[in-house]
Amino acid sequence: MNKPVTTANVQPNDLSQFWMPFTSNREFKAAPRLLVSAKGMYYKSHDGRDILDGSAGLWCVNIGHGHPKVVEAIKAQADTLEFTPSFQFSQPLSFELARKLAGMTPEGMDRIFYTNSGSEAVDTALKIALAYHRIRGEATRTRLIGRARGYHGVGFGGISVGGIPSNRKFYGPLINGVDHLPHTHNLEKQAFTKGQPEWGAHLADELENLVALHDPSTIAAVIVEPMAGSTGVLVPPKGYLERLREITKKYGILLIFDEVITGFGRLGSSFAAEYFGVTPDLFTMAKGLTSGYVPMGAVAVDNGIYQAFMDESPDGIELFHGYTYSAHPLACAAAMATLEVYQEEDLFQRAADISPYWEEAVHAMKGLPNVIDIRNIGLVAGIELAPREGAAGKRGMEACVKAYEAGLMVRVTADIIALSPPLIVDKGDIDKMVEITSNVIRALD
Ligand SMILES: Cc1ncc(COP(=O)(O)O)c(C=O)c1O
Repeated sequence: MNKPVTTANVQPNDLSQFWMPFTSNREFKAAPRLLVSAKGMYYKSHDGRDILDGSAGLWCVNIGHGHPKVVEAIKAQADTLEFTPSFQFSQPLSFELARKLAGMTPEGMDRIFYTNSGSEAVDTALKIALAYHRIRGEATRTRLIGRARGYHGVGFGGISVGGIPSNRKFYGPLINGVDHLPHTHNLEKQAFTKGQPEWGAHLADELENLVALHDPSTIAAVIVEPMAGSTGVLVPPKGYLERLREITKKYGILLIFDEVITGFGRLGSSFAAEYFGVTPDLFTMAKGLTSGYVPMGAVAVDNGIYQAFMDESPDGIELFHGYTYSAHPLACAAAMATLEVYQEEDLFQRAADISPYWEEAVHAMKGLPNVIDIRNIGLVAGIELAPREGAAGKRGMEACVKAYEAGLMVRVTADIIALSPPLIVDKGDIDKMVEITSNVIRALD
């Protein structure tokens, strides 16, 4: 039999056909960064170098790379049952996985809708929110409120409620009737805060102004990332999420947390809802759900919302929504094994235990050239560099490339370096990440 085609034995000789996402294709194809295998905390590059994973791939490989338990589970599932439809059929593991997830979600939020990505989870949550109001006879509640600098994936729903200008401006008028809260970042008031900033809870009160402007009877839902990751690590000010919860409750508006990054141990708890002690009505998850081994996302839904669909819908399908690959057997197998690894290796607690060391280590970079802020929570850090005049983002991208050349994968958004390692990271790995990042920052002009 021929050897299976894998990343380890394919040498591409033409990079032109693959249009890469969120990448400068012209720059990348002139100097590619290809990864061919991975184990534990490290990738192996195509030129044979070990690359320490400072970003858990793309905020997702929380259990570390090549975990045998998850790899075996995926292989066994592929051998047994590679696909079942989820429309009018299913397979047992999809229910078992939902039950297991329900054991991790906040009480009363144990209805799970499967998607294949974070973007789809966001669009699903928004659609459930709209449909929920409608089936209860409040069809005027159609307005969605997001937040400036929010990242909710790339579907039309997600970019409409999202607040990252370059992700929106090319795509026309987007969804009607969306408004945005202000973001919570303020360098003057918050720079170099460890953990949650003291300043900024009052920014949640802006929701009162939006409610007054639009009238609560027109507003379906508010969606925020409990900690905004992709925009460059914005930690919620103390009291902010609590205030959003109070105001949304007061006006019958659903609160959606987008936990695509914060779920599964990133903050040292199952979900940010638990970490902050604030329970939304719906929340999204993806990434850490399968640790990125197979694509999968999901939405956890308050039982009362689910029940309203069961009680109020006419006979037949209660929600006209779903994906061919919802509850894909390989994804279910990967997720089930990943959740077991989290438990068996106590990885959320491990992340919580090492986060004070992480905090001290990343804040030691204060004082390096061009570093204008460092922020952290759980196993996440953002290091903000001053933009070069007239060339915002260049310094950040150079940091990413130089770090890779020095053996470290980091994620950058404009001039902000984000670090979010797999939860198996140890103190030695942290020291190495900080050392490489510091050297890179020093070497940048
Ligand atoms: C908060 C949040 N929501 C949604 C998404 C989109 O997820 P995906 O890229 O899987 O569609 C991301 C991805 O980074 C995210 O961080």
